[in-house]
Amino acid sequence: MQSDAAKANPSTAFPGTGAGDGAGGPSWYPPLLISADDLGARFLEPALRDEALALMERITPDPYTDYVSAFMREGARRFGPGWRYADIITVLLGLSDVLKPRSYLEIGVRRGRSLCAVASRAPSCHLFGFDMWQAGYAGIENPGPDFVRGELERVGHQGPLTFVNGDSHKTLPEFFARNPEQRFDLITVDGDHSAEGARQDLLDVLPYLAVGGAVVFDDIDHPTHPELLDVWNRTVADNPCFSSWSFRGLGYGVSFALRRF
Ligand SMILES: C[S@@+](CC[C@H](N)C(=O)[O-])C[C@H]1O[C@@H](n2cnc3c(N)ncnc32)[C@H](O)[C@@H]1O
Repeated sequence: MQSDAAKANPSTAFPGTGAGDGAGGPSWYPPLLISADDLGARFLEPALRDEALALMERITPDPYTDYVSAFMREGARRFGPGWRYADIITVLLGLSDVLKPRSYLEIGVRRGRSLCAVASRAPSCHLFGFDMWQAGYAGIENPGPDFVRGELERVGHQGPLTFVNGDSHKTLPEFFARNPEQRFDLITVDGDHSAEGARQDLLDVLPYLAVGGAVVFDDIDHPTHPELLDVWNRTVADNPCFSSWSFRGLGYGVSFALRRF
């Protein structure tokens, strides 16, 4: 029997983060071939920051992307190539390289920045974007699906694209009631930032994350949302089903976890 990750990546013997049991022998360990700690440490390499900066050059700039790009350039200039920084974009670029996702679910698309990070590395991936397109989110225009479609074209996305518009607390249960067999290789939760809302989004999507796949959770160190770290720890990091990694102390912080079983 193949692991979900092996099914998602049938062309490799040791697909994604999962070893699988394709050789027909027993599987003594849960089917992960690398821990989140190990991957997270690699994602702090300067190359991923350079690639995040290059991605920002390809999409439509806004005040926030301009700010983050300047922040990364200045950190590297002052503290050298060993300067350590991670955010949702560097993590999604790194995970997309490792997992080669065929299916990606994102709650909280906004202007498509994080969706483009995945699409730029996995151009044929089926992207599922859930958003209610709150006007002027964080003080920046939030134009909606047509704008995001244009951004995805800029980064060369060629695969299927599905937008699910509306409040995720309604649209996710409806979507999974209609698609109970659907599994995702990669999931990002970055929509409702209230403690209860973010926790509910995690609980709604985690059963549909493939074994060997990864879930990303943004803003665990955001001064306006201090409760998100506790939501992540209680819902995912403390759960033995997951191998998790968090980056804090610089920027707004980010976490991801690999599903072990
Ligand atoms: C932080 S932004 C997403 C940023 C994006 N992931 C990125 O990295 O560029 C949050 C987005 O979530 C959406 N959102 C907030 N609450 C939501 C909810 N309950 N259901 C669906 N979308 C929601 C907002 O409209 C906004 O576009």
